[in-house]
Amino acid sequence: MRCAVFASGGGSNFQALLDRKEAGDLHVDITVLVVNNSGAGAVARAKKSSIPVVHCAPSHFQTEKRYIESLQQHLQQYGVELIVCAGYMKRLPPPVVHAFRNRILNIHPGLLPAFGGKGMYGERVHRAVLDYGAKISGITVHFADDEYDHGPIVLQKAVPVRDGDTPEKLAARVLKAEHANYWRAVEAVGNGRVRIEGRRVVGRI
Ligand code: GRF
Repeated sequence: MRCAVFASGGGSNFQALLDRKEAGDLHVDITVLVVNNSGAGAVARAKKSSIPVVHCAPSHFQTEKRYIESLQQHLQQYGVELIVCAGYMKRLPPPVVHAFRNRILNIHPGLLPAFGGKGMYGERVHRAVLDYGAKISGITVHFADDEYDHGPIVLQKAVPVRDGDTPEKLAARVLKAEHANYWRAVEAVGNGRVRIEGRRVVGRI
């Protein structure tokens, strides 16, 4: 299956996927990296692995419509069948979400539906978990739909909250779990090993 990885940040999840491919564990083709800011750390990682990079952001276009058309053109050009968001800080435009229904994966650094939704990303999630006093956090891989952090859940893993945690410490522990697990969801979806029954994603991950 031909995948596009979308990333805006450091790209450590993207790197973890590349490493799993290199190790022979992940069998999807990562055909293109899409970024919305040229400063994304993921860009250097893509270049090192000779993966083409598309830099596409709404500010490059006069209208939202043109931006969406361009994004769609790029996805078509690379024959993309699955979109894997790995720290992509921008919501994908509805026409793309609809065209790729149940074919967009996202990873959230918390256990949804808690500590998710609009504005809940990055350090904010970990701070909210600590402020609430939760004892367990974790990761959620889910299909993206029209609402933030809402689509059917593919995979979740719990990560303990420890006494003395700061948002940074918790973030580092959660990120490790992301690296260890995101590829499993990508592989299962890429292999067609899962199916969606209502909100439930069933099958072997
Ligand atoms: C991860 O914590 C991911 O869950 C969130 O953004 C972060 C991306 O980190 N959506 P990186 O860019 O993969 O290092």
